[in-house]
Amino acid sequence: MNRRQFGKGLLASLSSYALLDSLFAFNAFGRKINPIADHWSIQLEEYCNDLKTNTISPENWQVQVEGLLSRIELAELLKFIDFDRLLKGFQYPDLGVNTRPVKFPKLEGLPENTTFYKKIFGLKKDRAIIPHGHSNMSSAHMVLRGGFKLRHYDKLDDEGDFMIIKPTIDKMVQTGDFSSISDDRDNIHWFVASTASAFTFDVIVLDLKGQPYDIHNIDIHQQVRQSDGNLRVPKLDVDTALKKYGKETHH
Ligand SMILES: [Fe+2]
Repeated sequence: MNRRQFGKGLLASLSSYALLDSLFAFNAFGRKINPIADHWSIQLEEYCNDLKTNTISPENWQVQVEGLLSRIELAELLKFIDFDRLLKGFQYPDLGVNTRPVKFPKLEGLPENTTFYKKIFGLKKDRAIIPHGHSNMSSAHMVLRGGFKLRHYDKLDDEGDFMIIKPTIDKMVQTGDFSSISDDRDNIHWFVASTASAFTFDVIVLDLKGQPYDIHNIDIHQQVRQSDGNLRVPKLDVDTALKKYGKETHH
């Protein structure tokens, strides 16, 4: 690299750096953090790349990513993904959820195409991210705005048309809370919006262990409790599942 190329590279990184004024954050101890090398998006990419290359287990990925999410300052995250822009003209469906892709700003050390997919999910009150399980994928979810009733289940067995599952999480979540899924733990999730509108930021790693990913919608209301306390639930096609679970009706 000659001096001129070096200078250009430096300018490019300086200008992207300047755009990210929100990165001049302070850590919990009041110390200014290194705005580039320590940025959470770079750490996140590392964890997702480790997952994709089987360097860490899906469960370990969940632990690492949830740890990271717990340390992110929400205001900085909202600015980083330009949440205000994503909200403009957002179309809320009557059934279920709508998504918009997230684009990260240019950042030294962060590949332009990240290993993970990133989106926001938005929905109106009583609409749901319908109950579903996953194969060969992991994802993490941070509530950006509003609240949800959140339920998770472990996937114990997949019998083709049925799944054997076990309840693991049942709680209300709100802005700043997060959750994650993988084949190892809390595989099935179900979000029902409890506020006028509600949004999550999702980080998704697909096609793990060299296998294509899949999503299985389940008919949780048709659960049959087995003698060991686990639940046997039928799978549903997406249209039927959306009609049944996309919008909660109160009686
Ligand atoms: Fe999911």
